[in-house]
Amino acid sequence: MKRFLTLTMVVLLALGLLAGCGGARGGDAGGEGSGDGPIVIKFSHVVAENTPKGQAAQMFEEKAEEYTEGKVDVQVFPNSQLYDDNEVLAAVQQNNVQMAAPATSKVSKLFPQWQIFDFPFAFPDVKAVQTAMESEEIGGKLFTMLKEEKLLGLAMWDNGFKQMTLDEHPLYMPKDFEGQKFRVMSSKVLEAQFEALSANPIPMPFSEVYSALEQGVIDGQENTLSNIYSKKFHEVQKYMTLSNHGYLGYAVITNSEFWEGMPEDVRTQVEKALDETTQWVRENGQRLNQENLDKIKADGTLEEIHTMTEEEKQAWMEATSGVYDQFREEVGAELIDAVLELREQ
Ligand code: LMR
Repeated sequence: MKRFLTLTMVVLLALGLLAGCGGARGGDAGGEGSGDGPIVIKFSHVVAENTPKGQAAQMFEEKAEEYTEGKVDVQVFPNSQLYDDNEVLAAVQQNNVQMAAPATSKVSKLFPQWQIFDFPFAFPDVKAVQTAMESEEIGGKLFTMLKEEKLLGLAMWDNGFKQMTLDEHPLYMPKDFEGQKFRVMSSKVLEAQFEALSANPIPMPFSEVYSALEQGVIDGQENTLSNIYSKKFHEVQKYMTLSNHGYLGYAVITNSEFWEGMPEDVRTQVEKALDETTQWVRENGQRLNQENLDKIKADGTLEEIHTMTEEEKQAWMEATSGVYDQFREEVGAELIDAVLELREQ
């Protein structure tokens, strides 16, 4: 009996160890494995499902599973269910999740150059960002550097442009920012933007913003309309200025070893699914944000939604223009000049 028990324990232990090692196939985690099950691609993100990124992740899941005829199993984890802003890059590097789409500002934790997208009024529209990403000197450079950290940049997904909200009073001119506490993503450029407006920037993960607004830990924040609406920020703020002052988009990334380890025929189909999804985001991201503005208006929780005037825009631009010079060294003069050149066109 004793011998039987010992044997059982050894078998159970061995099974446990095998499960712990789980490769891509039939296992829990991604990576090349020898089982017969599908390759698991865990995709972690922080926003709600009814946003450009949330919908894109779902679309990618459906298409990838369809095109590979079930050879991959994409598992999407929205709303910071698996990882928070501060954790997700390391999780991809360690292959604990195989895909993520952090805001470009958050990639700057590893590569400060990615803060290029955070400069105030750097891009007149989403098309300009797409042109930048397609160019060798901006997009090419940014994607290439990811490889140094075991990451592979697969695509860029747009959300759109950020708007400002505040609880205390409307934001018209730079002086209205004075002394107010604004949540920022983890980006020194974003901090500098608010400092240039004499406000106090407070870096904070996305998952904490709603309660920080509700409890008055912060007075305001900047985000896209889809993020504001889906996370109900407009219910705990009184004023919004439609300023389009900064871009918010995502680096769709994977663990390079995992990606390159996928059988080529499977990878080709997954890449096709991703390309089609990227195209969909390009065509629909702005529509989703516009629809969210209509919903915010219909909710009627904000006291005022102000559209920035040309005079106000000039004043905000002037107040924050020094941020570009401040970061020439950290972000890179060449990148900054390339973006500014593009803006002039
Ligand atoms: C934020 O932290 O405000 C955004 O990056 C969230 C997101 O991923 O859109």
